[in-house]
Amino acid sequence: MLETYRSTVELIEKQQPELPVNCLSLGVLEDHVTRFVQGFPGTVAYAVKANPAVPLLQGLSDLGISHFDVASVTEIALLRSIQEGATLLYDNPIKSRMEIEQAYTEFAVRSFAIDDPIELKKIHSVIGSDSDLEVSIRFNIGASTAVYDLGKKFGTNDAGASELLSMAKGYGYRTALTFHPGSQCTSAQAYNEYIRRAASIEKASSVNIEMLNIGGGFPTVYPNSGAPGLQSFFDEIEQQFSNSFSKRDVELVCEPGRALVDPAVSILTRVKHRRSEPVLFLNDGIYGGFMEQLLSRVELPTRVFRGNQLLTGNQVPFKVFGPTCDSLDVFSYDVPLPESTNEGDWIEFGEMGGYGSSTATVFNGYGTGKYVYVEEGFSRNVSGVTT
Ligand SMILES: Cc1ncc(COP(=O)(O)O)c(C=O)c1O
Repeated sequence: MLETYRSTVELIEKQQPELPVNCLSLGVLEDHVTRFVQGFPGTVAYAVKANPAVPLLQGLSDLGISHFDVASVTEIALLRSIQEGATLLYDNPIKSRMEIEQAYTEFAVRSFAIDDPIELKKIHSVIGSDSDLEVSIRFNIGASTAVYDLGKKFGTNDAGASELLSMAKGYGYRTALTFHPGSQCTSAQAYNEYIRRAASIEKASSVNIEMLNIGGGFPTVYPNSGAPGLQSFFDEIEQQFSNSFSKRDVELVCEPGRALVDPAVSILTRVKHRRSEPVLFLNDGIYGGFMEQLLSRVELPTRVFRGNQLLTGNQVPFKVFGPTCDSLDVFSYDVPLPESTNEGDWIEFGEMGGYGSSTATVFNGYGTGKYVYVEEGFSRNVSGVTT
């Protein structure tokens, strides 16, 4: 059982944490997941890669999430240990023969994504015929407007997707189409265009699909993201989907990572050193929970504590370094913080549920991955919660 605190202040008072701590609020998770599931016009699968921390997965499972996008056999085994009967979508398009065999035989996975004929033949040679097996064909329509373009690595074109549908049908498999518009996608237009293309791929192949999986990509409302609220995405997707497909024949699925879990986790860091100018060295950084702050200009909500007091006052931009000796270990943007922020203060970063602790390393001997429950939560997106 994890340690539980009512608030970040209580955590600081009781533990004076010297090492970074991931603070999970089950209340924020419940609010947010409930709104997501009620708003999305189809099935919500969670993309485990965003954050496979057991307390978070358990929280999602307790809230009734029963579908999961998994990227590896390790994630599959973890999910089976948490929710034995979960529906697992093995949506990493490239898998070794051993991974396919293990997923199918040992863990009863029945849905596999592919994006080329070689992978499909591989699946067929390992598994053989099975009319329960679903093959989900990943396609890609090119230029992405998202912060992270995932189309450079995966996805066939329209003609390739049509051919793969026919080939999968020929093997006697159930068929589906899938795409990912890129992570932190701030325009619903991208989903609309993909859904239209999915309908034309299906038509061109004359193979009826049973599922359309529109991937993840939904945006978190970071302070600088300018992203519209999720409901406007859901409304547009519902409209486009019903224009393009019959809801009776095709199941609509999404597999969000960051947008489902970001608000539920914050990372509490501590300032190790301040130079005379506004330059800070924290006990966590790019090689810890903040990899995305190297890769993009995604800015995080922050609040600073001096002991049990919230530090206020004039904010100035700080250069923020992590604890390692590597000069890459620096935030990509100057972080606005109270001018007097100094050694020994704690800085809490919100919206850290996705791609925070999941991408952390132990480079230079840092990083803990420690999780605690903090009931209060710290998210600017959930009403009634401290911002
Ligand atoms: C196949 C697949 N599905 C879902 C996701 C989750 O994406 P996001 O966190 O942007 O929602 C990813 C992220 O890489 C992915 O590769």
